[in-house]
Amino acid sequence: MQRLNGFVARRTRRPTSALAEDVSALGPEARAAAVYVWTRRSLNESASVSLAERLAANVGEAGLDSPLARAMHGAFVRLGEDEASHVFDANEVLAALGQGAPPNEVELRAAGSSPLSQLVHDVAVGLFLCESVSASRFASVWAATDLPAFRERIGVFLRDEIAHAALGRHVLPLVLAAYERRVGPNEARRFVTTSLETATAELVAIVAQGTALVDLPPPRPQPTGNPGIVEPAADARALYRTLERTVQPFLGSLVTGNMHTSS
Ligand SMILES: [Fe+2]
Ligand SMILES: [Fe+2]
Repeated sequence: MQRLNGFVARRTRRPTSALAEDVSALGPEARAAAVYVWTRRSLNESASVSLAERLAANVGEAGLDSPLARAMHGAFVRLGEDEASHVFDANEVLAALGQGAPPNEVELRAAGSSPLSQLVHDVAVGLFLCESVSASRFASVWAATDLPAFRERIGVFLRDEIAHAALGRHVLPLVLAAYERRVGPNEARRFVTTSLETATAELVAIVAQGTALVDLPPPRPQPTGNPGIVEPAADARALYRTLERTVQPFLGSLVTGNMHTSS
């Protein structure tokens, strides 16, 4: 519970640098690529806001009335505030690039048959998996981004996504234990495993464009004068890094029954 309260109380950092100078340094190709990538980023962050809202709603609906559940609710509200500020930051970048903001309401698919199973799904897929992948992707983008105002913004995203991924690692065993009490360990673990494997296959199709790790070209330096963009192979490597270091060990621990995701 202390960790959840710590997540809520952690310091908010906001970007302070002006974007105009960095934007004026962009050539037409880098500018077009920046519009594409930051529009995708804005949409992804809007989806994260919707996810945080659904997490907060379902933790109340799931019948987990306890101080721990209330602390989780507070953490999900803070998560939503972080994600809303990321939407704001991405849209601010788009405005500096002379581009309008994309729609900020993203509809999420439903995946569970009850508030608790939806909560378990969203914690496993939306927080544990997607936030871990997001943190890993932002880490490689941050390393490649050399225009200072863009770099500052990617750094803010990166710090938050690392905290969100840690929240996912902490909360997943808690909601899974509650779900095991409700439906039994076998059914609960089958549901989490299927949810994670399905979402992993979707991420491999979208982020890695279906390319296996062994078929990716070797890493190479990314372009300079960079407004927060990496080539698709760098994103794919970030995805595979997370699957190997975070997701596969957790799936293995579900088989052995020896769960230890919290770090
Ligand atoms: Fe975010
Ligand atoms: Fe996030």
